[in-house]
Amino acid sequence: MNLLFLGDVVGDMGCDILEKKMYSLKQKYKIDLVVVNGENSATGNGLTRYSYQRLVSVGADVITTGNHCFKRKEALPLYDENDTLLRPANFPKGVPGHGYTTLDLGYCQIAVVNLMGTTYMEPLDNPFFCIDSVLDEIDARNIMVDIHSEATSEKKAMGFYLDGRVTAVIGTHTHVQTADEMILPKGTAYITDAGMTGPELSVLGVKSELAIEKIKYHAPVKFEESENPCFINGVVIDFDENSGKANKIIRIIER
Ligand code: FE2
Repeated sequence: MNLLFLGDVVGDMGCDILEKKMYSLKQKYKIDLVVVNGENSATGNGLTRYSYQRLVSVGADVITTGNHCFKRKEALPLYDENDTLLRPANFPKGVPGHGYTTLDLGYCQIAVVNLMGTTYMEPLDNPFFCIDSVLDEIDARNIMVDIHSEATSEKKAMGFYLDGRVTAVIGTHTHVQTADEMILPKGTAYITDAGMTGPELSVLGVKSELAIEKIKYHAPVKFEESENPCFINGVVIDFDENSGKANKIIRIIER
């Protein structure tokens, strides 16, 4: 089976390019299932009802998020209303939504888990202990983990920690695709960051001049999305649904 995972979709323009290219991408890679990180899909980041619906209508079967999951108040009910919209599993108990979901495709079950790192990020529960409990609860052979995290070391450590226990560990959050896709020794597909689906000439999707002002002067700057042409970043995971092991991981960049 082939799963397409797309890195953080940024704003309306990120959704626009998916509308244009998703069909051909699915044909090209014979995709069975699509997982998209949608935590920046609303204009001005976060996720809204509108951006959520756009991602669903372009074909996202599961939508993962991260530190911006609750940025838009209007989106809060969505997390309880939709099993396939995830927020990180290591948020404190009592917040809306859930951190993993299991899709029953009839011939196999596929679970998707969303975790958030804690290095240089909010102090959520320890993602390593969290994934241990989540895996105890999941009854599926095929498990895809989105670890939304700043530090490459934390994501890499999670990859090795879960090697042989899950089908794939895919990093998100930095919006910069890494070139370290690999199959780990016990059969888990891994990449440190899947990258971004948004404006290529930008700083994380933001107009570069605004990012420079913010970083250079530490000034209060209102970020605006770049209007430069978008690219799609992600990975295709080819896996054996009977064993839950990954055969191949292909990194994709589509302009
Ligand atoms: Fe993020």
